Amino acid sequence: MPVLSAIAERFARQRPLQGLRIGACLHVTTETANLMLALAAGGAEVWLCASNPLSTQDDVAAHLALDHRMHVFAVKGEDNARYYRHIEAVVAAGPHLTMDDGCDLVTILTTKAPQAAASVLGGTEETTTGVIRLRSMERDGLLRFPIIAVNDALTKHLFDNRYGTGQSTLDGIIRATNVLLAGKTIVVAGYGWCGRGIAQRARGMGAHVIVTEIDPVKALEAVMDGYQVMPMEEAAARGDIFITVTGNTGVLREEHFAVMKSGAIVANSGHFNVEIDLPALARLAEGDVMRPREFVEQYRLGDGRTINVLGEGRLINLAAAEGHPAAVMDMSFANQALALEHLATHRGALPPGVHPVPQAIDAEVARLKLAAMGVRIDRLTLEQERYLSSWSEGT
Ligand SMILES: NC(=O)c1ccc[n+]([C@@H]2O[C@H](COP(=O)([O-])OP(=O)(O)OC[C@H]3O[C@@H](n4cnc5c(N)ncnc54)[C@H](O)[C@@H]3O)[C@@H](O)[C@H]2O)c1
Repeated sequence: MPVLSAIAERFARQRPLQGLRIGACLHVTTETANLMLALAAGGAEVWLCASNPLSTQDDVAAHLALDHRMHVFAVKGEDNARYYRHIEAVVAAGPHLTMDDGCDLVTILTTKAPQAAASVLGGTEETTTGVIRLRSMERDGLLRFPIIAVNDALTKHLFDNRYGTGQSTLDGIIRATNVLLAGKTIVVAGYGWCGRGIAQRARGMGAHVIVTEIDPVKALEAVMDGYQVMPMEEAAARGDIFITVTGNTGVLREEHFAVMKSGAIVANSGHFNVEIDLPALARLAEGDVMRPREFVEQYRLGDGRTINVLGEGRLINLAAAEGHPAAVMDMSFANQALALEHLATHRGALPPGVHPVPQAIDAEVARLKLAAMGVRIDRLTLEQERYLSSWSEGT
């Protein structure tokens, strides 16, 4: 993670986070460990919990706690009660800055610890679903401090959501099942940043890709990108593998399970485990559920068909694989580190609400990443600069 390393080296010299307590609710992976080390190098005291019950890499959590004396509350496979106890432990530490991936930390702060929320200087949010929740909280007048929407930085979603989720989602499905993708029909629900990446990679692996959407512009884009587009009620009977990545709820429902082929595989890569209606599937299976492999639950329906759910419907790339590769998290987490520095150095300047990542940070992350990759680009000539800033030259 060369971009994050360069930032960590500067942080170690300048200590922009000196004396600040950071409460982070993120997937506890090796890449997150590098981010936490960068923040500690900048002078921060780190309190970390998981942003998903299945995404923790236990060796990483142990390493941060034992070798770096960070306060870490995360274990892979924790149940919901323990997941929330861990978030509450971070809230109880009284963070000055927050980092969230899905907005669970800010939700607990706001609803259960308004005193602690009052002393937060600001925070960051990593993912699309978290930003949607924060905007809704802002609309309801509940947001008490400024939050920078890291997800919306170009150097985040263009790469992390598209190429990171695109690759790691298929990686999770392959690791969980060892299924051959070539020749299969893969249904991708949602053609946003993540869906585009998954569809593109699935096609590259030789799959026939069907896209489902609710947004006419995105649906049109998928058609022009060469995919079949249809409602889920039609796609359900055709797919061999289903991947939901909408950030929405109830995308795969009872009426879809009712017509799926026997042996169909369903997986989710959207933030929460509500995209696949698992309670409905459980009702249809009446308790007949087997676990043929780790991360695979096979539901046998009354008519004998089976449907295989991967990773309990949670983010499959983090449940069954290792999340995004470090090369892409380098940019997302460089944005995180620089956004926190921005909040620390502009305390009191930003009003409560959701704020964009400053453009200069986005450009800096891209510049550092290109430099790390050894890629050089052109510069505007003086003549070009003048031309682009004037209106007087026409036909
Ligand atoms: N797995 C990961 O590591 C990872 C990484 C980044 C983002 N995410 C999560 O993935 C989800 C999608 O993120 P994104 O950045 O692609 O968001 P996005 O807003 O760019 O795309 C979501 C798309 O889903 C469509 N959609 C909504 N409801 C639908 C429905 N019922 N049927 C079909 N399509 C529907 C929307 O129209 C939109 O085009 C979010 O929950 C986000 O937090 C996961």
